[in-house]
Formats: sequence, structure tokens, C-alpha cells
Amino acid sequence: MCGIVGYIGKQEAFPILIKGLHRLEYRGYDSAGVALVNDNKELNVYKTKGRVADLEEFVKNKDISGTIGIAHTRWATHGEPNNVNAHPHYSQSENLALIHNGIIENYSTIKEELINKGYSFQSDTDTEVLVQLIEYIKETNKTDLFTAVQLALGEIVGAYAIAVLEKGNTDTIIAARKSSPLVIGIGEDELFVASDASPIVDYTNKVLYLDDEEIAIVKRGEEPIIRTIGNVKKSHKIVELEVNLSQLEKGGYPHFMLKEIIEQPRTLKDCMSGRINISCDNVVLSGILDNKEKFMNARRIIILGCGTSWHAGLIGEYLFEDICRIPVEVEYSSEFRYRHPVIYKDDIVIAISQSGETADTLAAIELAKEAGAFVFGICNVVGSSIPRNTHSGAYTHVGPEIGVASTKAFTAQVMVLNMMALAIGRAKGSITEDRFQHLIKELGRIPEKVEHILKDTSKIENLSKIFTYAHNFIYLGRGYNCPVAMEGALKLKEISYIHAEGYPAAEMKHGPIALIDNEMPVVVIATHNSMYEKIISNIQEIKARNGKVIAVVTENDCKMCNIADQIIEVPASEECLEPLLTIIPLQLLSYYIAVNKGRDVDMPRNLAKSVTVE
Ligand code: AGP
Ligand code: GLU
Repeated sequence: MCGIVGYIGKQEAFPILIKGLHRLEYRGYDSAGVALVNDNKELNVYKTKGRVADLEEFVKNKDISGTIGIAHTRWATHGEPNNVNAHPHYSQSENLALIHNGIIENYSTIKEELINKGYSFQSDTDTEVLVQLIEYIKETNKTDLFTAVQLALGEIVGAYAIAVLEKGNTDTIIAARKSSPLVIGIGEDELFVASDASPIVDYTNKVLYLDDEEIAIVKRGEEPIIRTIGNVKKSHKIVELEVNLSQLEKGGYPHFMLKEIIEQPRTLKDCMSGRINISCDNVVLSGILDNKEKFMNARRIIILGCGTSWHAGLIGEYLFEDICRIPVEVEYSSEFRYRHPVIYKDDIVIAISQSGETADTLAAIELAKEAGAFVFGICNVVGSSIPRNTHSGAYTHVGPEIGVASTKAFTAQVMVLNMMALAIGRAKGSITEDRFQHLIKELGRIPEKVEHILKDTSKIENLSKIFTYAHNFIYLGRGYNCPVAMEGALKLKEISYIHAEGYPAAEMKHGPIALIDNEMPVVVIATHNSMYEKIISNIQEIKARNGKVIAVVTENDCKMCNIADQIIEVPASEECLEPLLTIIPLQLLSYYIAVNKGRDVDMPRNLAKSVTVE
């Protein structure tokens, strides 16, 4: 995680770096820091624990001049989030300053060696080891900074995106990456480096993406020069960004999360656009069309993801088994990568990720590719590492998701999975034409149904007030809505810090029912579908133990009004499409509870948006 940004140009670097850090703060917010080389060629580093706003306060009355600089917002992995562990880190002589996103796995061995050679360390971070190593190599080998970085990275095991500044050099940033993202922006007389394009879009839409183990010399007035760690020269296509500025602003909403929840009718339309035709009778996904044979003959589908993306994968399991009759396994990327899984050449692996940068998912993809499987990515961030490292894929096209709690990306992931299942099911003949036509029309109606739920959020806002001070929550659902229950619980815990569990409703009596008393709110997704009668029995079991039931029900379900304590209505739909509707009130409920509790909704504690470390 961590956000990194660098600037070289004609303007003062500090304000540009600070604006960039604000954009990148979603990636980590334990500390913030900046390094600048001023016109006297002095290298100044300022850093503090806390947010970017704390850094702005901290630098008051300090020399923040200079037209070249690098800056960092941290999500701590090694060493507590304090001032000393904040980046940038100086080298021993204070001639170099470095920022880093990632983990240096062999840092302790290198640290020991450097200590034996007389180096001393200020921080507990793995990062400081790298900057000291670069300096050590530079001095002992009498090389320039680029070569020293190149040699040092050759000794590093782990993941990094780095940017390095040197005292006395007002023209150059050395940047490199391996398994952590890095993009270079090329403007008029100015150059940028950043973890993603968000700090760059105000100035230029021309970028190039570094690949793993590449190092760039980003020099004032010149095109970036890129070489690998092994010193092979590389050239990269400059690509145009599609992000627009309004997507990066709150647009009048108090939080990005609320904006992103409310945006969903539009983002779902954008996700379908060009894929489902106007008359809603066909679905075309180029990633499926181009690889039709592979999907038709798939022996099995393995879905990989983490967190919310894993929950979307669980819905995918129901879809592909139901509509395509292909066996599916859904795996946590982090478990899959280390448990020596059986992967067949005719398996299709679907990797789901909003950021496209999740380290565990990237590693699991590599494993699947090595085993010869075909890997398909479902990602949101265009040009991110997962789409660049998979055989094919489909973007979710919801624009930047900034709130740490994923909302619009989740619904679009589920939408893509629905479209995939329909396209494959029709090609295989595992779904009747009648059912296909019916489902695709219903899919086309989803955005307006989501809009209908969002038209009046006051009922959920009022409901949130009743439950703000609950200490625990249980979320239950069955069938397609079981993963929705798990996602609803995740949303609540990550932004309100209330403990919540999501369970298949029928599993309750195998343990969690012991938790039910008159203080336990239980959110049950109880829409009118094939599991309706079953879920009513589950609700009765909760009521018999005095639990408080908040039921998400199909509009006009009078029966449920008499059983549940509170009801939230959603429009009727097909069972396999229900998750696209039932998750919306759960997103809102967690949002309002977190707001009532005064939580930092967009940047909840201990979390970061993009998990680029394992
Ligand atoms: C979602 O609300 C979470 N913040 C988190 O679980 C997230 O979904 C997970 O880290 C996976 O991220 P990705 O989709 O970018 O791979
Ligand atoms: N490992 C570095 C640190 O703890 C960087 C962390 C990160 O990229 O999230 O400071």
C-alpha cells in the first residue's frame, strides 16, 4: 500500500506533491512526508505521523522550495506508524532520500551486514535498509545513482515501488518497481511519478507504466530512460488516460463512499454499456468471444480474490454452476498461492480485483499461469497490474473508487459475472433461450431498480440510529444472498468498527445461534425467492430467542412485516440478480451507522484501499 508521488518541472513541487498525496491518501494514512531539492541543491526531508493535513501543518515556516520532489503517504508494514518510521528515509550521509511502497523481505540480513560495515539506522522500517544499501553501493563502487539503485535492487527480495532523490541534483528522480505499481506522467516541461494516475491527471493525460524489475531515469526536459535490473534497455508506449477530474472529487457529497453508493445506477449502466445491446436481447463480452473455445471446454472455473472481490466471486460460483453448469471453486488468493493447489490446463481462472494491484491475487495469477491455466481478470483500474498480467479480461468501468470500503466496484463485479455467465451459458446451451432472454431483460432493468432503492434513503438513515450502539451484528442470507450477507458484515465492520459476522442462514443453528439475545441485531436477507420459506423458518428461530431482526424483503411482502422487527424493501427481481439490489441497503446501513459513530468513513483505521503487500 502506501502512495508515492514525485514531480520535476517548472512549478514549485510542494503544492503539487501535497495535492497528489491527498489523492493517494486512500492507499495509506499512517504518516506522510516529502523530500525536496531546493535551488541551492539542498535536500530537505519533512515527515510526520498522521494524515497529509498534519504534514501541511508540520512544514509551516520551513523551506519547502524546489521544483523537484518526492512524497509519500504510508500504510505501515514494518515499524509502528510514528515520525521516525515515516518516509522519505535519508541515507546515512543524508545525501539520498527514498520513498517506498512494498516490503523488502530480506531486509534484516542486509541490515545486519550494513551495521557490521558501520551503518546505523534511525527507523524500524525495511525501507531504510534499501536507501542505506544504495548509498553503500554507490560509495564503494563509485557509481552514479542509477547504477547504485540497479545493483541494490539486484540484491533485494520482495516488492517495491521506489523513488529516490539525491542532494545536489535538481534534475533527476530514479524510480523503480517490482510487484507494486508505478506510473510515469509526461507533461509539458514536467514529469511525474506516482502509484496511480490520480496525482497526474490535473496536469497531463500522457502516461507510461513501468513493468516489474524496471528502473527509470526521470530527468528534467528528457524522455524517461528505462532499463531493467539486468540493464536491458526498454521502451514503453505512452498511453492516454481516461480518468476525468470530476471522478476524483466528492461532488458535494460528505464522503466518497456515499457518492460511490449513489453513483451505482450509472456505474452499472456504464458496466453494461456496449456489452448488452439496447433491445436487451444479446450480451457481447469480447474477452469471452475471443476465447470462446476455452470457456466452452472449461473443466472447472477457479475464482480468485480477496475481501469484497472474494465475495463477488462467491456470487460467481452460484452463477456459473447454475447458468453454465461448470464446477466452480472460489479461493482466497492468499490461501490458494501457498497451498500447492491442483490446477489443470483446461481450468479457467478468474481473478477479481478492484485495484488490479492486490499482491496476493497477482501472485496467485502467476501460479495459475505457470500451471498452464487460462487466466481472465475482472478489474476496475485500467492499466493496472492484473489486467496487464492476465490472458484476457473485462473491466468493470465504474471509474475511480476512492472510499476504502468497496461499493460500486462490487456491484459492477457482480454485473460482469452475470454477463459472463449469460454469454457462456448461451454459447454452451446450458441455459434455455427463454431463460436467457428473460434474464438479460431483467439485467437491463437493474440500474433503474437500484435507483428506486436509492431514491429515499431516509428510512435506512433512521434505522441506523436505532442500531448505532450495538456491539455486534449478525448478517444472514441463503443461496445467492449468502455472499451478500458476508459482504454486508464486512462493510459494517470495516467502517464502523462494530463486530459483525456474515453467515449462511441455515448454518446459524450450528453455532452462531448461541450469540442471539435481545441485544443482537440480525440482518436477514429474506427476499421472495426459492429460499423464502426456509429463511422464514430461520427468522422464527431468531425471534424465538428474542433477537432483533432487520429483514431485507421484496416490496409489498406483508407477511414479513408481521415477523421482522424492521424491514427494508427492495424491488422484485430474478433470484440470480438479487445481490445487485440487496447489497444496496446494506451498504447504506453501514455507511449511516459509521457516520453516526463519527468514524472516518473514507479512511477507516488500519486499512488501505490497495493492498500491494501480502
Ligand atoms: C473492501 O471494502 C475492502 N476494503 C477489501 O476487502 C478489498 O475488497 C480487498 O482488499 C480486495 O481488493 P481488490 O479488489 O482491489 O483486489
Ligand atoms: N514497508 C514499508 C514501511 O513499512 C512500506 C509499506 C507499504 O508499502 O505499505 O514503511
